[in-house]
Amino acid sequence: MKRLSVKELLQATRCGETVEVSGWVRTRRGSKQVNFIALNDGSTIHNIQVVAETGSFPEELLKRITTGAALHVKGELVESAGSGQATEIQARELTVLGDADPEKYPIQPKKHSLEFLRDNAHLRFRTNIFGAVFRVRHAMAFAIHDYFNAHGFYYLHSPLITASDAEGAGEMFRVTTLDALHPPLTSDGKVDYRQDFFGKATNLTVSGQLEGELAAMAMGKVYTFGPTFRAENSNTTRHLAEFWMVEPEVAFYDIHDNMDLAEDFLKYLIRYALDHCMDDLLYLERRLQEEEKDRKAGERSMNLIEKLQFVLENSFERLSYTEAFDLLARCKANKSGKFQYPVDRWGVDLQSEHERYLVEKHFKKPVILTDYPAEIKAFYMKQNPDGKTVAAMDVLFPQTGEIIGGSQREEDLDKLLRRMNETGLPVDSMSWYLDTRRFGSAVHSGFGLGFERLLLFVTGMSNIRDVIPFPRTPKNAEF
Ligand code: 4AD
Ligand code: MG
Repeated sequence: MKRLSVKELLQATRCGETVEVSGWVRTRRGSKQVNFIALNDGSTIHNIQVVAETGSFPEELLKRITTGAALHVKGELVESAGSGQATEIQARELTVLGDADPEKYPIQPKKHSLEFLRDNAHLRFRTNIFGAVFRVRHAMAFAIHDYFNAHGFYYLHSPLITASDAEGAGEMFRVTTLDALHPPLTSDGKVDYRQDFFGKATNLTVSGQLEGELAAMAMGKVYTFGPTFRAENSNTTRHLAEFWMVEPEVAFYDIHDNMDLAEDFLKYLIRYALDHCMDDLLYLERRLQEEEKDRKAGERSMNLIEKLQFVLENSFERLSYTEAFDLLARCKANKSGKFQYPVDRWGVDLQSEHERYLVEKHFKKPVILTDYPAEIKAFYMKQNPDGKTVAAMDVLFPQTGEIIGGSQREEDLDKLLRRMNETGLPVDSMSWYLDTRRFGSAVHSGFGLGFERLLLFVTGMSNIRDVIPFPRTPKNAEF
């Protein structure tokens, strides 16, 4: 007999059949007559109810059916008499596959804090909330490939080990096989990376963009989707040291095409979540409502699903950094000193508090900010004719702040070289990158979507550590 998943069993098309299912016990409630076992196998947020007559099974066996135990059930699928589920299983055979000692098993049927579950990340998959989050994560990854494939993009695998710093921010993890205690030294006392594995100093990549550009300048439309690594020491709810980034890169696209792509892409992903993950989203929404119950009506945020629909229905507000700067400089929050970082000089980098003000307070919808000061953006961005700004575009979302960062790229060799020299980038070792500008150069653009930032928005979770299975953050690489 074929074992069925809980998801299949709940579809109620097999009532009357003998079925088999395996899963983990969520709860067991027992009386003298009957036991109700809630069984979950991860295929859906919902449990199947297993009904076992107390007298038909040895007491010793029933006692072992505790929260967390792995259980195999054979029985008859019947229409449920109780409310809340369409079908249930009338058990004929119960086999405990693996016990979970209630004295020792950390995940009990009560509300655990997210902090506690983070410390038990190896077991948190077994909770409703993390089951929901990671099913949504899967669906979003799948939808990303789906979108690009349908739009004529090719999936490019960019390298994880690289000798270049794509963002020029110097926040990289070194990759080396040299002896940390006794590295070979050059005559002037520096570590001699010529003797290292790759014959030069290498790092984990911060972005696949530079390689993406090489491919786009031949294949037209490409995207990367892989892990990226940043050794920035920011212990925030929005930063990871290892996160996944999606980076489309398109030849002959200018910044406006790029913005259209970003907006269409994000809306597709949100629509996909609503179409394919409603059970999990409803669960996550209820959880958020529960959390907000004690807040005053005015302080409550939009319901999760309402918020997702709202983003779908409204076009993103597009404005330049300079327009945003004027708006922020004049706003009440700035004048009354409510911002931790005052907006007092054109050229300041915008902080998450400013981004959130624009999105949540002022426009009340996603915002695309363009044309940032060159000084605060990466070397490769297209230099605008004003000589001060570059054709950058950041997409800002409620709660999350920056979800996408991108730009039109500088395709003019001389201008790019000048900028690289100004910012002290090693022009010689990046000659391969410059060849795209030497031979057949053309307008092109791209962006990077932080996959976990997208998930924060879609799931309504508030800490980025809770949307990646095993978070890597400063001083934390457990599991
Ligand atoms: O804005 P960023 O640094 O842009 C780039 O890396 C470009 N090379 C992308 C491109 O144009 N192809 O990063 C892109 C996005 C950010 O908007 C943010 O969503 C996410 O990556 N991100 C992080 N997510 C989690 N933890 C971190 N430490 C992140 N740093 C950036
Ligand atoms: Mg950025």
